[in-house]
Amino acid sequence: MSNLIRKSVQALTAYTPGEQPDDPGVIKLNTNENAYPPPPVVGERLRSMDSASLKLYPNPVSGSLRNRIAEIHGCASDEVLLGNGSDEVLALCTRAFVENDGSIGYFDPSYSLYPVMADIRDVEKRPVLLGEEFEWRMPEGYSCSLFFLANPNAPTGILYPKEIVSDFCRSFDGIVVIDEAYVEFSSRHCIELAMEFDNVLVVRTLSKSCSLAGLRLGYALGNGELVCALHKVKDSYNLGAIPQLLGLAALSDDGLAHVRENVRRIKDSRERLKERLAALGHKVYPSETNFVWTEPSAMEAGELFQRLKDQGILVRYFPGERTGTCIRITVGTDEEIDKLFEAMSEIEAKGNEV
Ligand SMILES: Cc1ncc(COP(=O)(O)O)c(C=O)c1O
Repeated sequence: MSNLIRKSVQALTAYTPGEQPDDPGVIKLNTNENAYPPPPVVGERLRSMDSASLKLYPNPVSGSLRNRIAEIHGCASDEVLLGNGSDEVLALCTRAFVENDGSIGYFDPSYSLYPVMADIRDVEKRPVLLGEEFEWRMPEGYSCSLFFLANPNAPTGILYPKEIVSDFCRSFDGIVVIDEAYVEFSSRHCIELAMEFDNVLVVRTLSKSCSLAGLRLGYALGNGELVCALHKVKDSYNLGAIPQLLGLAALSDDGLAHVRENVRRIKDSRERLKERLAALGHKVYPSETNFVWTEPSAMEAGELFQRLKDQGILVRYFPGERTGTCIRITVGTDEEIDKLFEAMSEIEAKGNEV
């Protein structure tokens, strides 16, 4: 049987998504979802939807939503591609821009899906080790066909300096995909680089800032020729009618006002979370996202992760040389964060008694 499966697929270690427990009592601070519900206008649009319209195929290029996104970013509609979550958009990039003998680059550590995407395409991986403090470090003469640049980075939360990113895009020969999944929680974005350089795309998602991870909506912005290539390799109807409709609601003026308010609350909570972690003695990295990357001092990160899990609090732990000393905590509601600290203080106090 197994010889009917491609060798590269047999050898493939699939991406491990963060846990999605069925128990609603679990405090989920592990997958960087938004702490707050989506704009009310999304629910209203869903309730008023005529299910009879579902007998038709959806618009193949998500036309109205695409126009709205173009309007928001001040670009042309043919510079926008919509996808089933930004994960799909990233996968389309590996299909459109990487030859079979090409290569895919990314920082280490960064979004752990990137190497899996290279393995799915069965092409060479060219990871670049970040510096000691997870800062930007690019070796002289580095090259690859497609570089995935998460900015701000995950799981570290760090935003790279704009000039460095801009110089990299200018001098790089391959395609640069700037993955801005968390950019709404940060102080600056790179859209103008996608507009300026022919080899740069910016990818965004509605999963984080718009609280719509369950809807699956992401998009790429950039040079029309690159965007046209992505359209050629996507499934005909890659976005259902419901995501198109609700995405439009979320990105309406009303929806965006609500999103901005949620983002502001999360950024405030993030600063409080960082202060409280630092007060517990953790090393806290400078986050420009809706999560915090932190190195506990009282016990090993893996142990703290497990003990929190035993108490019904999920954070994210990535074992491994570069990541295994830290945990990543999604910024939850203030109540969730209070519970996290109650549990953490108790665990660390017990840990110290042993
Ligand atoms: C850096 C980064 N890019 C992309 C994604 C995927 O987002 P989406 O839900 O749009 O597929 C994530 C999800 O956690 C992420 O961390």
